[in-house]
Amino acid sequence: MGLILGIESSCDEMAAAIVRDGLEILASRVRGQADVHAPYGGVVPELASRDHTRSVSAVVEEALAEAGVAAEQLDAVAVTAGPGLVGSLLVGLSFGKALAYQLGRPVVGVHHLEGHLASAELAAPNLEPPYVGLVISGGHTALYQIGDEGSPVLLGQTRDDAVGEAFDKVARLLGLPYPGGPAVSKAAERGDATAFDLPRPLAGRPGLDFSYSGLKTAVALEVERRGSLSDAEVSDLAASFEAAAVAPLVERSRRAIADRGVGALTVVGGVAANRHLRREMAEAARRDGFRVVFPPPGLCTDNAAMIAAAGSRLLARGGSHGLDLNAFSRVPVGAAPWARGAPG
Ligand code: KG4
Ligand code: ZN
Repeated sequence: MGLILGIESSCDEMAAAIVRDGLEILASRVRGQADVHAPYGGVVPELASRDHTRSVSAVVEEALAEAGVAAEQLDAVAVTAGPGLVGSLLVGLSFGKALAYQLGRPVVGVHHLEGHLASAELAAPNLEPPYVGLVISGGHTALYQIGDEGSPVLLGQTRDDAVGEAFDKVARLLGLPYPGGPAVSKAAERGDATAFDLPRPLAGRPGLDFSYSGLKTAVALEVERRGSLSDAEVSDLAASFEAAAVAPLVERSRRAIADRGVGALTVVGGVAANRHLRREMAEAARRDGFRVVFPPPGLCTDNAAMIAAAGSRLLARGGSHGLDLNAFSRVPVGAAPWARGAPG
């Protein structure tokens, strides 16, 4: 497998990384665009892709320089092909294909969520399938079973909003800055999680699905009812929301672990950086006796090391793609059109 360049540009981060043999990160660079989107309170797709075109070559060059690797030494290029914002995806994808063509090396398209799932294996190289993976990000909230081979199998997912999206929307309702997840989490640290009685989505119900639109609406109603909020009330509401958002993640992960009879859980994606979640999940793992793996925060949020790691697994199974590899905005894990023809 050797040296893989990973490129990730599915949303508002341009990232490049060099990973050796699928597990050793030699360099990982991420350039965010918070300043570009902050005035709008959310990602503006057109601005995201335009900014990516300005930064892609510099970010890739920085990663190569940090790793002390010349482009000619690369063995392959792995790049996110979906899901995500198509305009953003196309920037990284086109650059990756052009570089691979120039170098005469294979290019492999990676599913963004398979990238997130691979981040746990970067963080814990001794992790052995089968295990359950909880993917919690701005666009996804889902549980997967990861086996020895083949694609991850979906066990359950959100019926409406993603948990990260709920964090971002609640931040906006509370007048907290973008990006919302870290801001809500910071405000929550000073708050009382029992101050507001918010609904716990699908609490106590069977199954492995999630739902976050009702919780988000409940926060919106509280904000509307009170008119204006003091700093203390903002902290209390943030803490109450965070507790209600995290509880079903813990409850359903425990159930998935028990149902599948596996001994380990990985928690990946931007929301896995949340400290309250880490505490609650670690406590559940201790009580139930399973292993829980959290990648370090820099590997939880979007990065290219996870794309290179997932790409090297695909390459090891003999998968590579042609230069007609396209970007896809919505595509389920395992059913990726670009995976056709590639083993697994
Ligand atoms: O994985 P990611 O970087 O991008 C996507 O693929 O969506 O996840 C971004 C999401 C955002 O919704 C952000 O608000 C959330 O992760 N997030 C957090 C925290 N850090 C990032 N949510 C809660 N607590 C955090 N500390
Ligand atoms: Zn992501």
